[in-house]
Amino acid sequence: MSLVKLLKKKSKKLLFTTPSHSQKTVIYKPLRSLYRIDISETDTHNPTEALLKAQERARKIYKTNSTLFLINGSTSGIIASVLTCTNPGEKVLIWRDAHPSHLNAVRLAGAIPIFYDIETDEDWEVPLETSCEMLENYLNAYDIKTLIITSPTYEGIVSDIRKIKAICEKHNVYLIVDEAHGALYPFSDRLPESAVRIADFTIQSLHKTAGGLNPTALLHCNCNLNTQKALDMINTTSPSYPLLASIEENINYLNSWWGRRKLDQLIDELEILREECQNCQFFGDDITKILVKTPELSGPELSEILFEDFNVEDEKTNEKSTMLLCGIGTEKNKINKLKNALLSL
Ligand SMILES: Cc1ncc(COP(=O)(O)O)c(C=O)c1O
Repeated sequence: MSLVKLLKKKSKKLLFTTPSHSQKTVIYKPLRSLYRIDISETDTHNPTEALLKAQERARKIYKTNSTLFLINGSTSGIIASVLTCTNPGEKVLIWRDAHPSHLNAVRLAGAIPIFYDIETDEDWEVPLETSCEMLENYLNAYDIKTLIITSPTYEGIVSDIRKIKAICEKHNVYLIVDEAHGALYPFSDRLPESAVRIADFTIQSLHKTAGGLNPTALLHCNCNLNTQKALDMINTTSPSYPLLASIEENINYLNSWWGRRKLDQLIDELEILREECQNCQFFGDDITKILVKTPELSGPELSEILFEDFNVEDEKTNEKSTMLLCGIGTEKNKINKLKNALLSL
């Protein structure tokens, strides 16, 4: 049975179990319908088995060795993957400016971090792709066990994961790809290629671009190591089944005809925006991240005008450019409003 169906089932028993709200004592009223389906691991309907089956279906959709549902964000997936493939004292090659979870994962594994840097694009002030030549130099110089790459970057710069994987194989190194910002990639040929079938471990946040609730995410594994054991060490023993069911439904939606059409429409709209806004310059490999600048304005000036005059809030701004994040839930009318704002700059 699917997780979604399982949560619809009402227990016929008198429950003297956790959670003690008993699905009826709603203390925080806006979440009434959440209380109704908030069951515990030990519920008689066997949610653990339903979760295993849901993850198995997800594995088939992504064509991976295993796909695990995460209810503590990509952060937990990155930590679990490092714990899975790295022993204390081994070296992990990480980007100096990576998300804090990368260094935290290395510390928790008792491993040794070796830092690499990524060149910054002067005109856009964003980090560029991870250089294969630089990686190869590190792998030649140090006895590295694990490499972590961020692709796409926050701003939508994608690295050559196939080439990096080939380098890792040559040096017998595990490859972890932080694809937190690329959860839509497996569902459209018009987006960059996903690492899910290439890297040893790929971590994706569903909540960032793929319409998921905070902080739902996925941990995909393509090697024959068991990621569940490490995840169990850092996960709660009382997972939120409503959140887990939302992950199941989220994947089914992205993989459905409707989900793929919605994504296609989003990409169409974003292509039109780029074509029409000839007064602006755009950069990056991922069209869903609108990395934009104009010749006359600095990043903060552009960000402030959009905010004050057009009621538009961006995701991230630097001295040279501004990034506006779009995802499966970004509606056409919102994109049109942004387009009109950019056109009138
Ligand atoms: C590149 C990158 N990796 C990992 C994470 C962690 O993701 P989550 O918030 O899903 O734990 C973030 C969050 O901002 C991120 O930007």
